[in-house]
Amino acid sequence: MLIETLSVFPEMFEPVMSTSILGRARQAGIFDFRAYDLRDWTHDRHRTVDDEPYGGGQGMLMKAPPIYEAVRSIASSGPHPHVVFFTPCGAPFTQAAAERLAMQERLLFVCGRYEGIDERAYDLADERISIGDYVLTGGELAAMVVTDAVVRLLPGALGDAMSSVDESFATGDSGGLLEYAQYTRPAEFEGAAVPDILLSGDHAKVDAWRRENAIDRTCRWRPDLISSARLTDSERALAEQLIARYHGSSQQNA
Ligand code: ADE
Repeated sequence: MLIETLSVFPEMFEPVMSTSILGRARQAGIFDFRAYDLRDWTHDRHRTVDDEPYGGGQGMLMKAPPIYEAVRSIASSGPHPHVVFFTPCGAPFTQAAAERLAMQERLLFVCGRYEGIDERAYDLADERISIGDYVLTGGELAAMVVTDAVVRLLPGALGDAMSSVDESFATGDSGGLLEYAQYTRPAEFEGAAVPDILLSGDHAKVDAWRRENAIDRTCRWRPDLISSARLTDSERALAEQLIARYHGSSQQNA
């Protein structure tokens, strides 16, 4: 997979793209990364990428022409990229979206700055993504968050010993629940013991404990996920009791 970014701060990306799992995956050729500087597609002495909004208002907007020119020129070589614009007005980013993006051959992430982007530039977007209901100073951090979530799903990125199948929000077997609690040595720490079942060596019991623990944690911390989680009838009855216990009613209010 090739991941490219277009922004006015291309230097922000390199430390993230060359560290830890992303760094190793890049070295191993599992993905390639390039950061482009939007100012390379300006034509004035000051390399201007922003201007005042029509109709007045605070702050500056990113101009459409450099973005158009840049996206067209980047896309003109190689396979056509799937183009994502980052904005707080985009669709919320989820694990399902990460899985969808991980199937693309080439992703181009366009990162806004200032008060936003001229609306006409969004005509280039295949999709608009928000990483949450808060406003960042720019889309670069959002692009790094999404890159991290996508690259770790690519075959081989986590190495043989690790898997992304069982974890929180996974759309596979664990059925959209938060991940169960995990423990490592020591078996007792500051008066808190690891649950006995996990020390029992009985794999069936461990699996049952983990499933119930995942349901319990999801009911406690993210009851909003329960309605779309894949649960058996008896698990759903348990979830309703737990939500009532943690949140005072059978409604899924957090
Ligand atoms: N740019 C500014 N805030 C953002 C957000 N929450 N998600 C994606 N891009 C952004």
